[in-house]
Amino acid sequence: MKLFKLFMIFLFSANLLMAQTYSADVAGKCMVCHKEKSHGLYNQWYESAHARNNVTCINCHGAEQTEADAFLHEGAYIATLVTPKDCGTCHEKEAIQVSESYHATAAEILESEDAYLANVAGGHQVAITGCENCHGARVKIDKNSPNKLSRESWPNSGIGRINPDGSKGSCNACHTRHSFSVAQSRQPESCSKCHLGPDHPQKEVYEASKHGNTYYTHKDEMNLESQNWVVGRDYYTAPTCATCHISATDKQALSHDVGRRLHWTLRPPVSKYKENHISRRNNMKDVCRTCHGDVFVNGHFYQFDGLVNLYDEKFAKPATDIINMIREKGLREREADYSNDIDWIYWELWHHEGRRARHGAAMMGPDYTWWHGIYEVAHHFYLKFLPAAREYNDKEVNAYIDKLLEDPIHSWVNESNENLKEAIKSNELQKLYKEYFPKN
Ligand code: HEC
Ligand code: HEC
Ligand code: HEC
Ligand code: HEC
Ligand code: HEC
Ligand code: HEC
Ligand code: HEC
Ligand code: HEC
Repeated sequence: MKLFKLFMIFLFSANLLMAQTYSADVAGKCMVCHKEKSHGLYNQWYESAHARNNVTCINCHGAEQTEADAFLHEGAYIATLVTPKDCGTCHEKEAIQVSESYHATAAEILESEDAYLANVAGGHQVAITGCENCHGARVKIDKNSPNKLSRESWPNSGIGRINPDGSKGSCNACHTRHSFSVAQSRQPESCSKCHLGPDHPQKEVYEASKHGNTYYTHKDEMNLESQNWVVGRDYYTAPTCATCHISATDKQALSHDVGRRLHWTLRPPVSKYKENHISRRNNMKDVCRTCHGDVFVNGHFYQFDGLVNLYDEKFAKPATDIINMIREKGLREREADYSNDIDWIYWELWHHEGRRARHGAAMMGPDYTWWHGIYEVAHHFYLKFLPAAREYNDKEVNAYIDKLLEDPIHSWVNESNENLKEAIKSNELQKLYKEYFPKN
């Protein structure tokens, strides 16, 4: 830690040396004029740790004349964009972690099925003002624009923004400018512009959980302004998103690589393990153990993994087999994806409802696991998806469904109510599901 501080001081002075290529007069004028022209922005900066440490406008906005987005402004070459590479001249460690995180890849979605849906069924503008505002745009240069940035791609602060200097992301996606306050970034709101809504309601799940309850009712006990923020030491009331995914514990240093504590990838139709998932799971358990006992923590993950397996095996795999069969055989009335009802039913089944169930179980929001989750999955699987698939009257598809419905976990649809009630009472039905619990 001490060594890192020394390194920072070294980098910091190196940057000040660089800044000396601008005269103190030019550098000083930025603040003088902007204090008048944009006093809100100026005051945000003035109250910040940066201002206290003499990091001024030019230290971040100063640019080489040769940079694609540089322009001459009041006697100095500057750029409006301050990319991870720019912040990284002083915060190298953070910039490297961000570049290695899954966040940095978030703009690589332009070829995805979601993007097809937005561009075709929606329209191009929605990709710009919707998708790219969360995922990030490829920032384009327009030589005729006053700040060299094309209006089609700026403003943008998407998490994986592709910058003209080749770096990916924008630090102010979480560290809102111009205060860049660390206290702000530790709060759930710094994630919740993006992590919410029908397909990944992490914000809503958190708000509904005991963790969210406790955080919002005791926020003043969270010591958010503290320089060090080690869970259990500097605060212990409740965990925030940052606590579980980014911040330090006694054993782990703070890391901007948000995937290093995840065991699963729950985004695709059928869940996947991450590489080295066991050690990542242990990283997460280490966070929980600050406030909970081992038995409790292991119990939580046993229940969560059980729900993931249930969703995957009972619903996701058969639904995926069926839709693939229908698509490959060219059975749909119209060829284009999403021009038929069944495409939308399947899509919502995994992309909305199935994800909600898994996110609810991961982060302790039972309402999302059941009412917004598996309740919807089951409703749409039995009463919309299977009937829509049957409508094609295809032998193979029907045979698959017939066989599926013979499976004791699905055969309830053809059972009598009395038999089912008896089965629940005698625990018979529950026993059928044992295989979905993780075998550990
Ligand atoms: C004499 C006043 C003045 C000085 C000195 C000045 N600026 Fe500005 N700056 C402005 C005004 C006015 C605008 C807004 C222009 C507009 O509305 O398009 C602006 C715009 C900007 C922008 C946004 C550009 C864009 O269009 O995206 C940045 C970044 C900026 N200034 C940084 C600086 C820095 C860094 C310095 C010091 C080198 C500086 N300014 C010095 C007046 C000034
Ligand atoms: C710690 C680095 C940092 C410092 C110091 C800084 N800025 Fe910025 N500024 C940024 C970032 C980051 C953005 C957003 C650009 C991006 O998305 O890449 C930005 C954007 C801007 C914009 C354009 C966005 C808008 O909302 O219009 C203006 C104007 C601006 N800064 C002016 C200033 C002025 C004036 C100062 C000094 C008082 C200053 N900045 C100090 C990092 C900094
Ligand atoms: C010229 C060097 C320099 C640049 C460029 C720079 N910073 Fe900083 N930053 C510092 C210094 C110095 C501090 C205060 C000492 C510390 O906290 O390590 C600081 C502190 C911070 C903090 C902690 C603030 C707090 O409330 O304690 C954050 C977050 C931060 N910077 C983010 C950024 C981001 C994001 C960028 C790019 C938009 C950036 N910095 C650009 C030097 C810089
Ligand atoms: C500007 C939007 C945005 C913000 C703000 C944001 N994220 Fe993300 N996050 C995303 C996107 C988009 C993805 C999916 C990335 C992809 O598709 O490559 C993602 C993915 C993730 C993942 C999964 C990583 C993996 O390896 O699978 C985690 C965990 C995560 N974010 C946590 C956070 C936390 C915690 C915060 C707040 C401190 C946050 N995010 C703030 C947009 C955002
Ligand atoms: C409100 C912010 C937001 C909007 C708008 C948004 N996304 Fe996302 N997207 C996210 C987040 C956050 C994730 C990661 C969720 C998770 O890990 O649970 C994600 C995940 C994805 C994934 C899965 C990536 C992977 O690697 O598994 C794709 C593909 C995707 N989004 C494409 C799009 C497209 C295309 C659009 C526009 C039609 C769009 N998104 C709109 C925030 C957003
Ligand atoms: C996904 C959201 C997110 C993004 C993107 C992000 N940060 Fe952070 N950052 C955080 C959070 C949360 C903390 C506070 C963690 C803590 O103190 O426990 C933090 C802390 C910091 C700190 C203080 C570190 C310390 O040791 O106290 C610096 C400096 C910083 N970030 C710089 C950056 C830079 C530079 C970038 C872009 C390369 C960046 N951050 C991008 C969420 C983010
Ligand atoms: C108490 C700890 C905790 C809190 C608080 C928390 N999470 Fe999580 N999060 C988890 C766990 C556990 C998982 C599942 C990890 C695994 O794969 O085993 C997870 C998974 C995720 C994922 C991956 C989802 C996917 O589709 O693969 C994202 C994204 C995420 N969380 C974002 C957030 C955001 C944003 C917040 C705050 C609104 C938040 N988390 C709050 C513990 C937490
Ligand atoms: C900073 C302390 C803290 C951390 C870290 C923490 N929790 Fe909690 N957790 C709490 C508190 C406080 C409660 C509420 C206890 C109560 O209901 O009386 C709670 C409740 C729970 C509950 C019960 C939910 C309910 O509705 O009854 C579960 C399950 C849980 N936590 C799991 C986890 C897991 C898993 C992790 C790590 C991914 C974790 N917690 C991390 C403080 C923490």
